[in-house]
Amino acid sequence: MIGTGLRGKIAVVTGSSRGIGFAIAEGLAAGGAKVVVSSRDAASCAAAAERLGGVPIACDMADDAQVEALFGKVAELGGADVFVSCAGLGGGRLAAKTDRAELQTMLDVHYLGAMTGARAAAAQMRGKGGGAMLFVTSIWGLGGATGTLAYGAAKAALAHSVKVLALEWARDGIRVNGLAPGYVETDMTSELPDAARDKMLSRIPLRRAARPEEMAGPATFLCSDAASYVTGHVLVADGGERAR
Ligand SMILES: NC(=O)c1ccc[n+]([C@@H]2O[C@H](COP(=O)([O-])OP(=O)(O)OC[C@H]3O[C@@H](n4cnc5c(N)ncnc54)[C@H](OP(=O)(O)O)[C@@H]3O)[C@@H](O)[C@H]2O)c1
Repeated sequence: MIGTGLRGKIAVVTGSSRGIGFAIAEGLAAGGAKVVVSSRDAASCAAAAERLGGVPIACDMADDAQVEALFGKVAELGGADVFVSCAGLGGGRLAAKTDRAELQTMLDVHYLGAMTGARAAAAQMRGKGGGAMLFVTSIWGLGGATGTLAYGAAKAALAHSVKVLALEWARDGIRVNGLAPGYVETDMTSELPDAARDKMLSRIPLRRAARPEEMAGPATFLCSDAASYVTGHVLVADGGERAR
């Protein structure tokens, strides 16, 4: 029997007040981890943390000072063993209409805050003999799609960084992986126009969108001892879309 090794571990999950992040935090909590539930809205964090028996710490990942403060509070809990970066926002325009501000916003939330968090988490993990990190990227960070210039660039940066961090931090016992979901039914995708939804569904071999809970298994696996020899990998969970 393979143990997860998650019991008693401190797992920080950004963007875990709802959607995919909540489902991942739920999976880690089910494995015995103490989860730190984090997003911008303090009330949502508190509600989600209560459901999971976790600790709520509000943080805007686009603000480095708040990210540092988040990990300062995590240090008081004993330091991070697991860091899952899932905070993010959707939306996007065609390239000709994508300005510097949109590129900056996407990079701030998805990428730059995640890297600040990764450095802080790594410092804590080194003091504990190692740990595991997971960056939630997207299939749109692995290949092009119209209307995703800014979002896709931030997600591609994450997918690339998974490999760099895995190489640099392996000697510290820190594994670094990524998860690239396809189309998942969450608040982020709920406002898609019908035509866009139909087009996306038509490209998915499994012929349906994922439920957020379906991201919990792959994510929990990558953060657990069951994946103790897996690092630098981006696991695609897209209903087969990229198998074409
Ligand atoms: N849904 C999909 O089809 C899909 C596919 C591929 C990848 N993803 C990725 O999966 C992740 C989660 O997406 P989701 O679909 O679960 O979206 P969601 O339901 O809208 O949840 C987004 C989460 O991120 C938090 N958040 C947003 N901006 C934040 C910020 N600046 N700082 C901290 N937290 C922030 C939100 O809480 P607050 O509003 O309280 O901050 C919420 O907890 C994102 O990184 C997204 O890009 C989603």
